[in-house]
Formats: sequence, structure tokens, C-alpha cells
Amino acid sequence: MQLSSVKDLIALNDGNKIPAVGFGTWQIFDNQNGKEPVLQALECGYRHIDTAALYNSEESVGLAVKESGLKREEVFITTKVWKDDLVDDAIKASLYRSLDNLKMDYVDLFLIHWPRANYNDLYWPFILAKAWEKMLSLKEEGLCKSIGVANFLPHHLQALPDWIKPACDQIEFHVGYMQEETLEYCQKRGILVEGWAALGRGLCLNNPQIEAIAKKHQVTTAQVCLRFCLELGVVPLVKSANPQRMSENTKLFDFSLDEEDLKALKVVPNKSGWSGEHPDTAIPFCDEERHFL
Ligand SMILES: NC(=O)c1ccc[n+]([C@@H]2O[C@H](COP(=O)([O-])OP(=O)(O)OC[C@H]3O[C@@H](n4cnc5c(N)ncnc54)[C@H](OP(=O)(O)O)[C@@H]3O)[C@@H](O)[C@H]2O)c1
Repeated sequence: MQLSSVKDLIALNDGNKIPAVGFGTWQIFDNQNGKEPVLQALECGYRHIDTAALYNSEESVGLAVKESGLKREEVFITTKVWKDDLVDDAIKASLYRSLDNLKMDYVDLFLIHWPRANYNDLYWPFILAKAWEKMLSLKEEGLCKSIGVANFLPHHLQALPDWIKPACDQIEFHVGYMQEETLEYCQKRGILVEGWAALGRGLCLNNPQIEAIAKKHQVTTAQVCLRFCLELGVVPLVKSANPQRMSENTKLFDFSLDEEDLKALKVVPNKSGWSGEHPDTAIPFCDEERHFL
């Protein structure tokens, strides 16, 4: 599909549609005037905002959407339930809290944020199967339009009941960390892959191989990284609190990467710019206020 703007819509497997590039809000905080960067992002043209119960940015997202004057249905909002809230009624309570923070009556996409709670969590396949049924009931209630997962590898996806596929799997994905096995698994089954940390949290930006390709196309390394995702059918999520950089990150449609570029980018050494977070072996822990330990 030929894309021409970050607003262009891509079909999900459940009949809904998602804008081609998402604006990330990790490290944009409600208590630090987080509304401003989200509002600037909407003004720059982003129509897809990614937040999570964990991020403390949901209120900012809600305020920004309201102040933007855009209609609710013009903006695609994702939020997520944290891994410690997957049992019993905690998922529903988490979604209600998120909706209350956002001051919205539905989200477009609701994700299970992480597949397992801790190293000792041997029951994760059962917990995920039950959690998925609950997610489905929340979709049926109309509290979320689409449901999906994040940081799921193929063995986590296999734990879900197979009658309703996740609409997407949001995984770390960037030049130097492509998670090919998960990408292929999802794409074969029609599960859209969203790529978080599409710039490797900034670590990809000084890579000489990426710099060479940026120079060839007279674009920035950030634009090469984001275009790389789009070329591979991945919806990139990118965060910037700087209006100039957030605008730069939307200008991805006046150039394309050729076979030679893609070949060179695919062989950037694996784990370049990797966050170090692995769904099974580097499980994030938070304190009671949900700050990462
Ligand atoms: N599902 C999950 O478990 C998960 C995990 C992590 C992230 N995410 C989502 O994915 C989103 C994106 O990931 P991320 O925020 O971790 O990392 P990222 O978008 O790869 O990188 C963000 C960093 O790059 C800088 N930056 C942005 N655009 C730039 C540009 N054009 N030139 C130079 N520097 C630039 C930003 O600084 P400035 O702000 O100063 O521009 C920031 O330091 C998150 O915000 C979040 O919504 C999801």
C-alpha cells in the first residue's frame, strides 16, 4: 500500500483501521505539562497516540485531544493494561481507570502490555488465556474497539485462545533489533506489528550505516529508521517532546528505501540500540507508584 502521510490508515484484522505512524508518550508526564507535546503532535498531523496505564501520560493525552478541537473519532488512542493487572476483574478496573484519566468512553486499541508478571510466574499461559477472554468481553462491551498485545513472542501468542486473533503485537522493533521470528509469525497470521522505540530510543541515530543511507536520500537518520519500519509493514511508534523533531518524524513520504538500502539496514548488527528488555528474561519491575525499579 502506498502511504502518503502519518494519517493514512492501515487495515487491522478486525475491520478497524489504524494510522500509519504513532506518537509515543513514554516519558511524557501528566505532572510535567505533558499536554503540550501531545497537543503539538496533533498539530503536526499525528492522529495516533500511544499511551499506557503505566506511563502517567493518559490525562495529558485526554486534555490534548480535547484542546485540539479534533473530534474523538479523528484520533486513534491506544492504552495498555500492565502485567500485574491481568487477573480477575483487574483488567476491567484498569481500563476504567484509563478511560477516566483520558476522559473518554472508549479507546481504539487496548493492549496487554507484557506477557508475564515475573520469573516465577509459571502459570502465565493460563493467565494469558483467561486475560484474553476478558479483553474480548471488554471489546464486546464497546469499551475498546480493537484488542491486542505487546511484547508477545510467538510462544506467548500461542497461549491465547485461537478464535480471536490479536489485532496487533506491539514489540521493540528498529534497525538493529528486528525480532524477525516474531515479525514473520505475526505477519503470516495477519497480526499487525507496531514497532516501539523505532529510533532505538535515540541510540540508532549515530549509526554509520544508517548515516550513509540518510546522506544518500538527503534525509535524517531518524527518518531512515522510521521509513525502514514502514517499508517492512511495521507501524512505527516514535516519541519526541521537541516540536521540530516531532515534525521531522512525520516527513517520511517523499523518499523510499530501495532494495540495497534495506539489505544494508537489515545487516546492522543485531541488538544495536536494543533496550535490553526481553519479555521472558528481563521482566520490568515497578514500585507501588509504578515507577520502574
Ligand atoms: N509496549 C511497550 O512495552 C513499549 C515500550 C517502550 C516504548 N513504547 C512506546 O513506543 C514509543 C516510542 O518509543 P520510545 O519513546 O521508547 O523511543 P524512541 O521513540 O525510539 O526514541 C525517543 C528518543 O529519541 C529522541 N528523538 C525523537 N525524534 C528524534 C529525532 N528526529 N532526532 C533526534 N532525536 C529524536 C527523543 O528525544 P526528544 O523527546 O528530546 O526529541 C527521545 O529521547 C514510546 O513513547 C511508547 O509510547 C512501548
